Amino acid sequence: MRIVAEHLSYIYNARTPFAAKALDDVSLTIEEGEFYGIIGQTGSGKSTFVQHLNGLLRLPSSLKRKKKKKGKGVSPVLRVGEFDLSEKKTDFRALRKHVGMVFQYPEYQLFAETVEKDVAFGLLNFAEKGKKPSDEEVKRAVWEALEAVGLDPKEYAEKSPFELSGGQKRRVAIAGVIVTKPEILVLDEPAAGLDPLGKREVMDLLHKFHGDWCKTVVIVSHDMDEIAENCTRAAVFSEGKVVKEAPPKELFRETEELSSLGLDIPLVAKLCEALKERGVKIECDFTEDGFINAVLGRAALRGKEGQA
Ligand SMILES: Nc1ncnc2c1ncn2[C@@H]1O[C@H](COP(=O)(O)OP(=O)(O)OP(=O)(O)O)[C@@H](O)[C@H]1O
Ligand SMILES: [Mg+2]
Repeated sequence: MRIVAEHLSYIYNARTPFAAKALDDVSLTIEEGEFYGIIGQTGSGKSTFVQHLNGLLRLPSSLKRKKKKKGKGVSPVLRVGEFDLSEKKTDFRALRKHVGMVFQYPEYQLFAETVEKDVAFGLLNFAEKGKKPSDEEVKRAVWEALEAVGLDPKEYAEKSPFELSGGQKRRVAIAGVIVTKPEILVLDEPAAGLDPLGKREVMDLLHKFHGDWCKTVVIVSHDMDEIAENCTRAAVFSEGKVVKEAPPKELFRETEELSSLGLDIPLVAKLCEALKERGVKIECDFTEDGFINAVLGRAALRGKEGQA
């Protein structure tokens, strides 16, 4: 399923003195199969954008009974596969089966007495009317989801989510979304607030899902290393607009442009810059492996030159 947004705008508290323009004419296409990054300063519209992808925030045209006006200005478009999110008649419940959304700090939304019940909620919530899964089916899916996020169901299913560590709670919250195996997984800052090992584990999980049943991953992140290491492409949001969109390899070459937007660059890009100032040019994709290989390649070349 391809995600296509054209001329998307969003104003919170429209027509009130508190109106805040959060998206301003955003056009963006995310292809099926991508591991797509969304970056930008705080308040730039990242969460507002991703919350449109499962219809949590809606286009005005999808809320009105009236037919869309024709010929006046450009109409916003938002399509996720076959789903046209600008239409009122769109089945948003069916859409949410395909687009799983993990919010920023999702562990704050855990509420059930046990881990098992919390994860099951996601599944029962999406069950079609008259097609309620049996207790056995629910249990099987929940246990599978817990295993998929690296929590042994025998140990954790009966625990209260509130007894768990921050990282474990995050996993339970992710399990509650992946229990329906959505083909698009959207995560708002999935690794925020975790320690470096916890961050890496969450990203490893996402890659595991991506190589398995999940076709497309979209992550919002403040962590440029995370974007460089994991993403096929990334979009830079600034004041509600997409100001740049490129694979990390191109994006992080524009050091000055990014810092003018208040953004950092990955550690590897900083190392490349520092080496360049010392007269050593390293061409790499700004991943750790890419950097190490480029440095080793250079060293091998110099060794050969030395021998000659
Ligand atoms: N519920 C809301 N009511 C009113 N204004 C809001 C609301 N949510 C967001 N905004 C405003 O919309 C703009 C975009 O917010 P959004 O949360 O999308 O930014 P963000 O890029 O996700 O920021 P962060 O990195 O801090 O999560 C900001 O100016 C914000 O103040
Ligand atoms: Mg946000």
